Amino acid sequence: MPSYVRAGSLPHKRHIQFRRPDGELYAEELFSTKGFEGVYSLLYHVHPPTATLEVREWERPGAHLHANDPLRNRHIQTQRSNVAGDAVEARVPLLGNSDILISVADVTEPMEYFYRNVGGDELLFVHRGGGVLESVFGQLAYRANDYIVIPAGTTYRLIPATPTRLLVHESIGTIRIPRKYRNEFGQLEEHAPYYERDFRAPVLGDPIDAQGAYEIRVTNAARNAIYVVQNHPCDVVGWDGYCYPYAFNLEEFAPITGKLHQPPPAHATFEAPGAAFCAFVPRLFDYHPQAIPVPYNHSSVDCDEVLYYVNGNFMSRRGIAEGSITLHAAGAPHGPQPGAVESSLGKTSTDEVAVMVDTFKPLLLAEAAFELEDPAYYRSWITPSTVPG
Ligand SMILES: [Fe+2]
Repeated sequence: MPSYVRAGSLPHKRHIQFRRPDGELYAEELFSTKGFEGVYSLLYHVHPPTATLEVREWERPGAHLHANDPLRNRHIQTQRSNVAGDAVEARVPLLGNSDILISVADVTEPMEYFYRNVGGDELLFVHRGGGVLESVFGQLAYRANDYIVIPAGTTYRLIPATPTRLLVHESIGTIRIPRKYRNEFGQLEEHAPYYERDFRAPVLGDPIDAQGAYEIRVTNAARNAIYVVQNHPCDVVGWDGYCYPYAFNLEEFAPITGKLHQPPPAHATFEAPGAAFCAFVPRLFDYHPQAIPVPYNHSSVDCDEVLYYVNGNFMSRRGIAEGSITLHAAGAPHGPQPGAVESSLGKTSTDEVAVMVDTFKPLLLAEAAFELEDPAYYRSWITPSTVPG
């Protein structure tokens, strides 16, 4: 959605006759959002995408969510998860509310079917691994530290070339570039930490002109079904518009730094209904001669904070490793652990990589979050010499 893209063969005008080499008509499809008033794309299929042979039940396990009770800060050690599979079946829901569901997925297998989440956009963060996201829009190669934005309704499958660890966000709405980065025409402004050319669109190859029985697993707000369609979904010869999956790698993120500590909104990447996303990447620290590089203690009274630790030295957090998630609950103070402020003084840069999502409604916990929890985390700010017993 960053800007207009066109790929493959297109007719001169929309909604006019566009013929295949054999003289038959291509099938035009409008892929639209917000009825006919949001961003959209026009796709041209070799065969109509509507030919459905069968619809049957998809018994997809739901996420059973429980209150963060007793209300406290938590550390979820997702590196201990032992669920693996394809990019849908391997999802382990951890945290969620009525706006968003957050899962991890260790992807070891290609999807043997297509998948379509109609209920909202998905945002995948690639912690490790590489491969291809294949969709009706073409092939989108991915690698570690990519964010992949997948618009609601996109028919896709993930094909890992190497084992892939994903952090998966399923939103109920549109995942968009923050308004503060865009001018009145939608273009990224000079002060934004990224630019349109940093975003990668799918590459459209030759259409797959094949007929048979192709499975598409469809989900929409906990209603699920399996569609078996007659025509291969990736039979598109051309498309154009503003609505398509795209990727953005954190290497391209130009972090905003300052004389004093920059708060998380300075590191914003995306926003969604009820959620804001940030990325912390290698950067120079603040340059005031008496600056304190690590964050101050704080309580966010309006949001729950979820931080996923990717790699590097997580200076302000003891006991945290790659793949850890911390949930800092609204109203529960948190900050650097004992000694972290003092040991940070004089440091000039950090190599840490972490991604964050703040939610404005309280997050609930799935069963796996309790199973993978380090129950001592909320006590990790105690000065060691004062720990009783
Ligand atoms: Fe925080």
